[in-house]
Amino acid sequence: MSAGHGQDTDIYLGSSVFQELKFWLVNLNSVIDQFFIFTDKNTGSFCLEQLTSCVSALKGAEIILIQGGEKNKSIKSVKFLWEALASKGASRHSLLINLGGGMITDLGGFVASTFNRGIPFIHIPTSLLGMIDASIGGKTGINLGNIKNQVGTFRLPKAIFIYPEFLCTLARYELLSGFAEIIKIALVADIKFWERLKLLHLPDLVNVKANMDIWEYLICSSVELKCRIVEQDFCDETVREILNFGHTIGHAIESLSLEKGVTPLSHGHAISLGMICESFLSVLKAGMKKIDQESIINMILTNYEYYPLSIMDSDFIMEFIDHDKKRRSTGARFSLLNAPGNAVYGIPCTPSEIIKSIDFYRTFV
Ligand code: GLY
Repeated sequence: MSAGHGQDTDIYLGSSVFQELKFWLVNLNSVIDQFFIFTDKNTGSFCLEQLTSCVSALKGAEIILIQGGEKNKSIKSVKFLWEALASKGASRHSLLINLGGGMITDLGGFVASTFNRGIPFIHIPTSLLGMIDASIGGKTGINLGNIKNQVGTFRLPKAIFIYPEFLCTLARYELLSGFAEIIKIALVADIKFWERLKLLHLPDLVNVKANMDIWEYLICSSVELKCRIVEQDFCDETVREILNFGHTIGHAIESLSLEKGVTPLSHGHAISLGMICESFLSVLKAGMKKIDQESIINMILTNYEYYPLSIMDSDFIMEFIDHDKKRRSTGARFSLLNAPGNAVYGIPCTPSEIIKSIDFYRTFV
């Protein structure tokens, strides 16, 4: 599979990926003299042993561990990693293996792309979100204060190894979080995939082991679709923006729920609610049919809990979007749907249109 920019990232998927990783590492022997595995403490306890016991070449790898959590996707962690690599003698002949969810692959990718002006790295994503989105397409990044991914690079990993069995280690809310990005990629890029998703009963899929073939199909389809989009616009200047469907309002809802504390929404949960608002905007501004809007909302509200938004919450969301707009030169532009499977990007929406979409969301209480 090609993951963009005219360069190939080898992407392997399935229950025998560790076998493939073994061969892949053997082929590197002449150029790589040291392996580093970067992971977080939580992933380390679930997945690291599995990896190193299957891939004997990694038994002597240097392990670099950090605490998990979005707040550690920071410049402090970058410095810690740069220093760990330097003190252990890493060079361009070292391979950094990022084992973990999106936070690890974003952070590890950033460190690998900057240390020594770039050392080779691979991703072994362990979360659903990581497998189908974060590890694909060469975006690396860290947060700057409260602003997510404000500092980063575009740099492709040499390879990505997706082991769907790792999904068995995930809590239900993490599966749901990743599933929202699967819904999104279907909606922006492939009507047939969307039609198939509508037939799935998500609560059954939470038993990952019993549904491994379906999960492999979902991951493979999502990865292929994302690669196809990234190939056309690696640096996110044009068509890659369609991947932001649901994200302009979804990010604002995510940030609101974090601000309120108690039980913040997962990223995917917030994005799914953002897709409800942005489906409304898709009807208003991009000509999507109401019947399609209804099927999208039905899919989302069947699988994701409704999160009530007050009038004051709308003010927060509008301020968040306004702030975001000021950071971008493009203004408040949305990626919307003409129809399921067909997206457009760069659509300007006025504050009153955005407020209407939130009011519309509120009618589902
Ligand atoms: N997650 C959106 C992108 O990779 O462009």
